[in-house]
Amino acid sequence: MAKKTNLIAGLDVGTTKTSVLVCEMTENGIDIIGFGSTPSDGLRKGVVVNIENTVDSIKGAVDEAEHMSGCAIRSVYVGVSGGHIKGQNSLGIVGIKGGEVTREDVQRAVEAAKAVNIPTDREILHVLPQSFMIDDQDGIKDPVGMTGVRLESKVHIVTGSVTSIQNIVKSVNRVGLEINEIVLEHIAAAEAVLSQDEKDLGVVLLDIGGGTTNIVVYYEGTIRATAVVPVGGNYITSDISTGLRTPAGEAERIKIQHGCSYGPLIPREETIQVPSVGGREPREVSRQILGRIIEARMEEILSLAYKEISKSGYEDLLAAGTVLTGGTAMMAGITELAEQTLNMPVRRAFPQKLGGLSEKIEHPMYSTGVGLILYGSRHASKRMRSGTGNALTRTYKRLKNCQHGRSILENIGLPRQDPVGRRDNERSRSGIQSRYRQAGRRRVPGHDPGLSGRRGHGFHHRR
Ligand SMILES: Nc1ncnc2c1ncn2[C@@H]1O[C@H](COP(=O)(O)OP(=O)(O)OP(=O)(O)O)[C@@H](O)[C@H]1O
Ligand SMILES: [Mg+2]
Repeated sequence: MAKKTNLIAGLDVGTTKTSVLVCEMTENGIDIIGFGSTPSDGLRKGVVVNIENTVDSIKGAVDEAEHMSGCAIRSVYVGVSGGHIKGQNSLGIVGIKGGEVTREDVQRAVEAAKAVNIPTDREILHVLPQSFMIDDQDGIKDPVGMTGVRLESKVHIVTGSVTSIQNIVKSVNRVGLEINEIVLEHIAAAEAVLSQDEKDLGVVLLDIGGGTTNIVVYYEGTIRATAVVPVGGNYITSDISTGLRTPAGEAERIKIQHGCSYGPLIPREETIQVPSVGGREPREVSRQILGRIIEARMEEILSLAYKEISKSGYEDLLAAGTVLTGGTAMMAGITELAEQTLNMPVRRAFPQKLGGLSEKIEHPMYSTGVGLILYGSRHASKRMRSGTGNALTRTYKRLKNCQHGRSILENIGLPRQDPVGRRDNERSRSGIQSRYRQAGRRRVPGHDPGLSGRRGHGFHHRR
């Protein structure tokens, strides 16, 4: 029998649903052992607007997942998104001290790239190294040991509004959970649906949820751009509700049962029954009309996404095309419409299969949740090894590199607890600590949720 080695939980607080996944890392891979999902009405466009409702939704999903897994969840990897998230590329240049690049030089170069003007109401979520340049030689992935005078790093920096992030943290902590790490939702979703080949060739992932469309562009294996368009499937529902004069709940049902976003796929003669409001009789409506309402909004979402892709400058380099995920990716005809609008090959992606109760999450709306688990599983060993910090620093522990940044750094042998961004971390951490003190927030006590062993794996098995 496979030996139990580790447990990890991912929390995706979306605009329409909150989902929690609990998984067990075994010698054979990752098994999903618990899952919970509840409707969410505390967020708008991916941002918390009502703490109480968000807390209730998280609590409901956590309770379900705990019940199913038989474990008490104490710490989670949490996704974050919303219109406040911004991505930018930056360069850092340092001199190579001894004529040969050391790991410290690389760290300094990445650190230097962070010297961009970031307003005090924003904080860095991720610093993702893309490539390095030594003197005039560009495109180096692993500069350690190479000879030169000047080392330049190219990085992608993701920042978010301190207040918006704080509201997510507050909601999670109010449920009594600690946060292992806050992860950009698109990075998590990419973990669950993109292949390494796609990332190497050049690909854009569109995670079209209920209130947001998250965009991440990969090229040559690293993240080149991230963006969030604050529009998603909820807008389609509300257009149907207004356009067909039917209650929102019926509009959602009609969208899922009969919706199609590509006209040529809808037979002309087909009609649907549409309930009316105010006690009026239901009406017979052509599916083509429904299709036109959906297509118009979907086209708008895709065009807004294309604008962001164009801004990145990589639109002509994405040989692997577009990958669609998120709940709205299930809309019939979306790949056809997207191919036409984006002018590139498009595929719909489900989260990669894991072991255990994996069939429960076979829907694009769970890509972020699965990605959080995968992200967590990659980084759990780091947490175990570092055994770092008090509860508050753990709450705000946000390693400044995602997997891709790390893979570059780790490949060149940098310590996983890399000091990249530490100064910034400490600066924002002390600010956050004082804000929390002012708010009189009770720290969640407990030992290190280092995710392994009997102590500190963040879970208690229920008896
Ligand atoms: N079969 C389907 N066809 C069309 N749309 C669907 C289908 N299933 C789900 N959706 C839509 O997917 C959306 C929810 O997707 P998802 O769960 O990914 O969003 P979320 O994570 O809650 O929100 P966000 O990521 O925007 O904050 C809803 O608008 C829902 O109507
Ligand atoms: Mg989502």
